[in-house]
Amino acid sequence: MVDFTGIERVRELVNRTGTAAFIEALAGEIEADYRRWDEFDKSPRHAVHSPVGVIELMPISDGRLYSFKYVNGHPKNTAQGLLTVTAFGVLADVATGYPILLSELTLTTALRTAAMSALAARWLARSNSRTMALIGNGAQSEFQSIAFHHMLGIRELRLYDVDPAATSKLERNLAALSLPGLRVVRCTSAAEAARGADIVTTVTADKRNAIILTPEMIEPGMHLNAVGGDCPGKTELHGDILRRPDARVVVEYEPQSRVEGEVQQLPADFPVSEFAEVVAGRAPGRTHDGEVTIFDSVGFALEDFAALRYVHKLHRAERGSRATIDIVPELQNPKDLFALLAQRPAQARPAARHIRVSA
Ligand SMILES: NC(=O)c1ccc[n+]([C@@H]2O[C@H](COP(=O)([O-])OP(=O)(O)OC[C@H]3O[C@@H](n4cnc5c(N)ncnc54)[C@H](O)[C@@H]3O)[C@@H](O)[C@H]2O)c1
Repeated sequence: MVDFTGIERVRELVNRTGTAAFIEALAGEIEADYRRWDEFDKSPRHAVHSPVGVIELMPISDGRLYSFKYVNGHPKNTAQGLLTVTAFGVLADVATGYPILLSELTLTTALRTAAMSALAARWLARSNSRTMALIGNGAQSEFQSIAFHHMLGIRELRLYDVDPAATSKLERNLAALSLPGLRVVRCTSAAEAARGADIVTTVTADKRNAIILTPEMIEPGMHLNAVGGDCPGKTELHGDILRRPDARVVVEYEPQSRVEGEVQQLPADFPVSEFAEVVAGRAPGRTHDGEVTIFDSVGFALEDFAALRYVHKLHRAERGSRATIDIVPELQNPKDLFALLAQRPAQARPAARHIRVSA
């Protein structure tokens, strides 16, 4: 049987740990995996585009474990009452090729993206950062808020979204959370939100080369956490921001980011550093307070690998029953797969339930 962590189970694991603590622990797992970057068999994700969205597969392996994530990005979905981003994934044992965990990854993607954003900001933002603009107040925005409040010490959040209802939803959710010392300011434009901010997070969804941030909004010393531009023809920053002489651009995995990130707007030899190089000390993070640092985030498979491992560890840590799912046959004679069909229903193992709970 394959372990199974659906939405209910992940919700339970996160609530038991506490959302902020979960995100911070996950950031630790992600950083640990970025520190062993060279052990991973990496490739850019495989994307199938349509005029309204993208469906992607994200595989990676460290030689012992393998994972993949299925994820979509459909910015117009919310108009039909559907999420922009949904995902699920698998963790597998390289030695046998057997899957060991099937998991929801929609909630987990929001948690891991927030964890990765805050982790990158720990390396790149000024350590005295207290104010963050949060532009794009949709599904990811609470997770980003919690991560930056908890891991970076952000005490003022400046919100903006073209959809006022999205900002109202975020305000309500943040008020219910009562994050200690947090002041929330509603702004009427991206420029107003960014003014005076130490960190600017853009997490908007629109399948085009949007320009959420323009050069005159950027102040010396800012850290930009550019999350929403994550596939070809889908960006958020004006190219001149990246070209600033005082800007340092950090990406996750260069071959993927050149195609999907903000840097797709620039020539292939435009200088970028990979986050793994920064963590390993092979590339500088921030070198002085006046520098503009840009985390050109697109989301890399290693972050989902770390998240699947972490969720699996929590899932298995508990005594008692755990959910499993019967997607791999269990046979007395592995050469006799046909026996599965020949079995009468009463003899079939496991019983014809999709999910069963085993001790
Ligand atoms: N980098 C990563 O690892 C990563 C991970 C997950 C999601 N994403 C991306 O993050 C983005 C947000 O995801 P989501 O799940 O929150 O989507 P969502 O649709 O729930 O929210 C996006 C919000 O952006 C707002 N918006 C659109 N255009 C805007 C503009 N010009 N100015 C201000 N606000 C604007 C929308 O009104 C909406 O409220 C998506 O583009 C998604 O692909 C990236």
